[in-house]
Amino acid sequence: MRSPLVAGNWKMNLTSAEGEALVTEILHLAGENFKIDVVICPSFLAIPKIADVCRRSRIKLGAQNCFWVDKGAFTGQVSPTQLAEFHVDYCIVGHSETRGKFGKLEIPESTVGLFSESDETINLKLKALFYQGVTPILCVGETLAEREAGQTDSVIEAQLRGALVGIEPAEMYGLVVAYEPVWAIGTGQVCDAAEAERVCGMIRGCLGQIADDETSENIRILYGGSVKSDNAAELFRMPNIDGGLVGGASMVAKDFYQIIVAAE
Ligand code: PGA
Repeated sequence: MRSPLVAGNWKMNLTSAEGEALVTEILHLAGENFKIDVVICPSFLAIPKIADVCRRSRIKLGAQNCFWVDKGAFTGQVSPTQLAEFHVDYCIVGHSETRGKFGKLEIPESTVGLFSESDETINLKLKALFYQGVTPILCVGETLAEREAGQTDSVIEAQLRGALVGIEPAEMYGLVVAYEPVWAIGTGQVCDAAEAERVCGMIRGCLGQIADDETSENIRILYGGSVKSDNAAELFRMPNIDGGLVGGASMVAKDFYQIIVAAE
């Protein structure tokens, strides 16, 4: 039986002080008592402060990215070991804003490789995170052009296979996968619940082929992309959707709390 999970991705928003105030407000609304896993993913710099607040509650802490090497001359990077020091339980990997063309930012083609995650680096990050006991939240999803070309399923299958190369089913313990259609992220254009369920079911089937059925049945699959308090319940009612990865609405205490309630 998979327990629901709701994760808030603050992206490059909120100072430590603003984040602390937000979490305090969420805890005030929730009475510090969640029946599901709630994860907050602040910026790296806000992690120590939010870690303090989370330690006093049942909220778990997540990071938004990491490097795959433990330590060394890698200027500007943060390793899974450094995350583990602050009791970071989860780490987002392969978000569409860190894959490919760095989200929707217009950058010259020649710089894409400098910023972006590829299937290979995503795979290295997953291995490093599992090794450190930090649970990856692996994001997959198609762009609008890929959807319109009828490539949704093949794109996602390739992302899953690329990310999980060389990882044994037994090592995938705890893995969370987030289906995030790129066209739904930050646009207010949520994926229809029935279609989100179809894709999440397809993802589960694919994980069954990559690993095995028992492993895939235990992997939590989230939906992400314009999840709001008024559409969360319909999405979370679907059998293959085990919760949400929430951007914008996770930064409004009342909205995020209502999304948590919908998952409960
Ligand atoms: P959104 O972002 O909820 O603001 O669409 C979701 C995400 O990027 O994970």
